[in-house]
Amino acid sequence: MLKKIIIILVILAFIGALIAIIHNLRVAYKNKKELSKFNQTEDYKANLGKVLVVYYSWTGHTQDIAGQIASLTKGDVYRIETEEDFKSSPAFYARVKKNLKEKNYPKLKGQMPNIDSYDTIFVGGPVWWYTMATPLYSFLGQMDFKGKKIIPFSTQGSNPGTFLQDFKNEAKNAQVGTYANFNNVSAKYNTEVHNKIIHWINNL
Ligand SMILES: Cc1cc2nc3c(=O)[nH]c(=O)nc-3n(C[C@H](O)[C@H](O)[C@H](O)COP(=O)(O)O)c2cc1C
Repeated sequence: MLKKIIIILVILAFIGALIAIIHNLRVAYKNKKELSKFNQTEDYKANLGKVLVVYYSWTGHTQDIAGQIASLTKGDVYRIETEEDFKSSPAFYARVKKNLKEKNYPKLKGQMPNIDSYDTIFVGGPVWWYTMATPLYSFLGQMDFKGKKIIPFSTQGSNPGTFLQDFKNEAKNAQVGTYANFNNVSAKYNTEVHNKIIHWINNL
């Protein structure tokens, strides 16, 4: 009996590993295909007025994209920070899922930014469970964009889910411009990712 259970578990583990490998190969193929469109460098030529780049980042990917946007647009930066310092653990994923379901969003540190003087405001963060990371919900819940031009962006493993739709629902009174999302890719695609950012901003 025990032997049978062990054999079944080994088979299940094998199937799981195979599914993960196929998924990773498909994502790698899609990333390569998408980013190959951005192998030509385009001159940056946008003029978006005074720019603010707002972002939340837990593990640094969104921070990297936000930094590139700020440096191209010569924008100011506002980092969304949570009062609690989230520690990485498998339980954290389950907790986030529960928090999203219960609309229980984390407390943020510090004052909200004063956006009066800005013409264009980028707002970005990671995708968590196919929607916005909970700190983004906290942030948008406290803001009123009063007709400001807001440009959303996200970073994710491979599936942005309903990030944009959820963003539009939460960003009160915003004129939401063209969204861009960035899969986490290896450093070998740094140039393509940078070109993608330039292309996106030039066409806002
Ligand atoms: C709790 C949690 C849930 C996530 N859910 C998704 C998801 O639904 N889809 C996806 O493609 N990536 C998902 N990810 C991966 C992150 O979106 C991705 O790593 C992101 O670039 C991290 O951004 P950051 O480094 O700025 O925190 C999730 C990550 C965490 C921590």
